[in-house]
Amino acid sequence: MLSYGSVAFDPPLVLAPMAGVTDRQFRLILRRVGGVGLVTMEFVSSEALVRGNERTLKMMHYCDEERPISIQIYGSNAARMAEAARVVESIGADICDINMGCPANKVLKGCSGCALMGDLDLARDIIATVRRAIRIPLTVKFRAGVREETQNYLELGRICEGEGVDAVALHPRTAKQMYRGRADWTRIARLKEALSIPVVGNGDVTSAQDALRMFGETGCDAVMIGRASMKNPWIYRQTQSLLRGEEPCEPTDADRRDLILAHFHMLMEQENELRFALHKLRTFTGWYTHGIVGGKQLRTRIGSLDSPRAFIEAVEEFFEGRVAA
Ligand SMILES: Cc1cc2nc3c(=O)[nH]c(=O)nc-3n(C[C@H](O)[C@H](O)[C@H](O)COP(=O)(O)O)c2cc1C
Repeated sequence: MLSYGSVAFDPPLVLAPMAGVTDRQFRLILRRVGGVGLVTMEFVSSEALVRGNERTLKMMHYCDEERPISIQIYGSNAARMAEAARVVESIGADICDINMGCPANKVLKGCSGCALMGDLDLARDIIATVRRAIRIPLTVKFRAGVREETQNYLELGRICEGEGVDAVALHPRTAKQMYRGRADWTRIARLKEALSIPVVGNGDVTSAQDALRMFGETGCDAVMIGRASMKNPWIYRQTQSLLRGEEPCEPTDADRRDLILAHFHMLMEQENELRFALHKLRTFTGWYTHGIVGGKQLRTRIGSLDSPRAFIEAVEEFFEGRVAA
């Protein structure tokens, strides 16, 4: 059982925050598949949150079944970050996470996300001010640094620990690298050696075997998985099996069909805008059928469908014959 302050979870496997991906339905799907210890929301702008932006507040809806849940905020103004963190706490989130790793230009220009690694005084001020503002566990997610020559993840890790942060997560690429090259896991091992608070390793885990290897090679306390969970929402359950010394199960065609339909029904229940729901569904079905025989035909077919009924029929037809009744 891993604890971030007062919040404990098991297994030590964390869904990485992913804007446009880790929405309410996706988090619930992962919870229902099982094996994930902690889920994280898409990042939320502290400015939008403090202004009471309606879309942002809607994005922050979650339900008890998702718990424990972490909400990630970003921004560059310490007072407004603290105010945003108070909102996160007041809506009952289990954990508040600060984003210091986003490499997107839009975020960097606002001097938030990974840009804060270029100004550790400001980073410290934000961390300390947010820490004083809330009682729930506080975590920080960051990269190796802004660029190769200015790597300062160890320094930022020590600042976090000194300011009372409960855990840190490292995606060991630089902002400059974006997603190119490989995530250098030796940096996770170095951070783990340098700190006594929990260190979460992240980056390039594509299978349950990779997750186990990350634990072994870095000594990290938890593994955080991002992109691989889109194509394989079973990855947490599979990793949990490996951690228990059991053989991980591959999802069957029936599992895939049930997952797509469950996601579909959830979207239709929770999204009142049909066009948006269908767009999301096409995207998710694309991932869930990745690498299966004939998946491309299904993806092409649903690309042109515009009614829920037609979508369900196409999915059921596709799996008919593959799935024994
Ligand atoms: C589509 C997408 C959106 C992301 N959004 C966020 C975000 O909102 N906050 C954040 O800290 N990281 C974000 N990330 C980075 C991931 O959390 C993670 O650090 C990165 O993808 C590396 O892990 P992986 O190799 O397991 O995908 C995003 C990544 C992707 C692919």
